[in-house]
Amino acid sequence: MSDNLKIAITKGRLLEESSSLFEKLGADCSAVRKPGRKLVVPVSELGLSVVLAKAPDVITYVEHGVCAMGIVGKDTIMESGGSFYEVLDLGFGRCRFALAAPAGTDFLNGWKTRTIASKYPKVAMEYFRSRGMDVNVIKIEGSVELAPVLGLADGIIDIVETGSTLRANGLEIIDTVADISARLIVNTAAMKLYKNELLGFVEKCREALT
Ligand code: PRP
Repeated sequence: MSDNLKIAITKGRLLEESSSLFEKLGADCSAVRKPGRKLVVPVSELGLSVVLAKAPDVITYVEHGVCAMGIVGKDTIMESGGSFYEVLDLGFGRCRFALAAPAGTDFLNGWKTRTIASKYPKVAMEYFRSRGMDVNVIKIEGSVELAPVLGLADGIIDIVETGSTLRANGLEIIDTVADISARLIVNTAAMKLYKNELLGFVEKCREALT
């Protein structure tokens, strides 16, 4: 693959699972797994460099074409939107967006306008708009479960993986909003310029995952 091609990967769990995928493709990912403070790590066996970034920045770098590809959660894609090709569901990083509220709440009934806390206000607004429900959405940066516990919100829309954070804070799932997993995304111009290389890489990933 062309030496200057870069793939931006979300730091954290997706990076570990992406490294496992690249190892299946024959790459040595020891430097990717332990990058220290390094933010661009060459992976010579794949002929590309891994760029370590926060999830929304993965999309920004791919959209602007400084990274040809990216690995990012569907949650970030749903919230950020953007113009790129979503070419492969990588199947890892599985979780879901859920609407949750204090256990025993009759959340969906009644006339009072509900207040929802979320790290994903766009996803939350779209969910309620599609159900014809008028809600107030308050953006929270982290530990959204705190908002109903403190009385700031009637419910939350957030990522649920094991459900233990909800249970530990007296909340229960009212509805699943969407299933989430990691996606491989590709810059639209790069797909034209490096079509064979990029499609070849996508195909190798697809085979390694099956
Ligand atoms: C996420 C999410 C929930 C929690 C769900 O938070 O926002 O709080 O994980 O996981 P569980 O269902 O396995 O309990 P994260 O750990 O990313 O940190 P944050 O709350 O600071 O965003």
